[in-house]
Amino acid sequence: MIVLSICNHKGGTGKTTSTIHLGAALGHSGHRVLVVDLDPQSFLTRMLGITDVASDESSLALFDHEIKFSALPTRSMPGFDLLPSTGTLTKRMRSLNKPTDVLWTKEAIEQNDTYDVILFDTAAAVTVYSLNAMVASQHVVIPVTPEYQPVIGAEQTAQTVTMVRERLNPELHPPHFLFTQVDARKTAHRKYRQYMRKRYQERVMDTVIRTSASLARTYDAGETVFERDPYSRGARDYANATDELMQRIEDAAGDKPRRATPAPPAADAPPPQPLSSATNGAHASPDSPHAALNDPSSERSPSA
Ligand SMILES: Nc1ncnc2c1ncn2[C@@H]1O[C@H](COP(=O)(O)OP(=O)(O)O)[C@@H](O)[C@H]1O
Ligand SMILES: [Mg+2]
Repeated sequence: MIVLSICNHKGGTGKTTSTIHLGAALGHSGHRVLVVDLDPQSFLTRMLGITDVASDESSLALFDHEIKFSALPTRSMPGFDLLPSTGTLTKRMRSLNKPTDVLWTKEAIEQNDTYDVILFDTAAAVTVYSLNAMVASQHVVIPVTPEYQPVIGAEQTAQTVTMVRERLNPELHPPHFLFTQVDARKTAHRKYRQYMRKRYQERVMDTVIRTSASLARTYDAGETVFERDPYSRGARDYANATDELMQRIEDAAGDKPRRATPAPPAADAPPPQPLSSATNGAHASPDSPHAALNDPSSERSPSA
């Protein structure tokens, strides 16, 4: 069983889009896939055309010892089963305040003998739900649009991954950064991609998800880009990202680094500077994303 969380503490970075399309691509390539919506705002559930989910039909079932894994209220989607979210997750969060409340999903999926892959979509925050996802996972994918706030969110998420690995889940691997909504024409995108590659090296996936109108459009019920627009670049990019991710997971299981292991990012790296000071370069730390924007020696034509 492969368990993956899709996280970035910043919103709008393509977490939900990536969860749906990684899940669908894995399903279409023959894996039995469960996608769990752990975001109380339920965007993934809504994007698949599902509304008005009662709490006993939702991912809250993972937080109930009475419910067996085989009796989870999943729904069939193209390529995967979905455990949908509901707004009641917000209400329930208040009672999930004991240290052991980060263990619910890990314990629930221990009974899994149905799925090859379980994917968790999470909210843009560190909550008991996103911690549950990371504690249950072996891998975290951090979708990151190569722009200032998503990059900061990605770095903070990477720190959370480290914390979870050190304190809660030693089986968690270092994260995989996946660039999303990439526009190769934008200089800032190129610079932030270079910054991330320099800092996180082989943790950054080679495949990037380009901006794609077919991914930005709203979905009809239960549809993904693979049904609607299978030859679009959105479909191709997510198919390639899925192949790369599975190869990475296989390599990690065999402890086979794809390339040399990089030095971990400095824990005491100075905080990033606001844009106004960074753009003149005077105050930007050499390690901050904005310093990357000012580096004239950076690569000029990334492939995207
Ligand atoms: N590659 C892409 N190209 C164009 N639009 C995208 C792409 N990925 C995501 N989007 C759009 O960007 C918005 C945010 O994406 P979403 O996956 O919901 O992010 P998150 O879950 O991180 O908040 C959505 O409207 C989505 O349709
Ligand atoms: Mg989302």
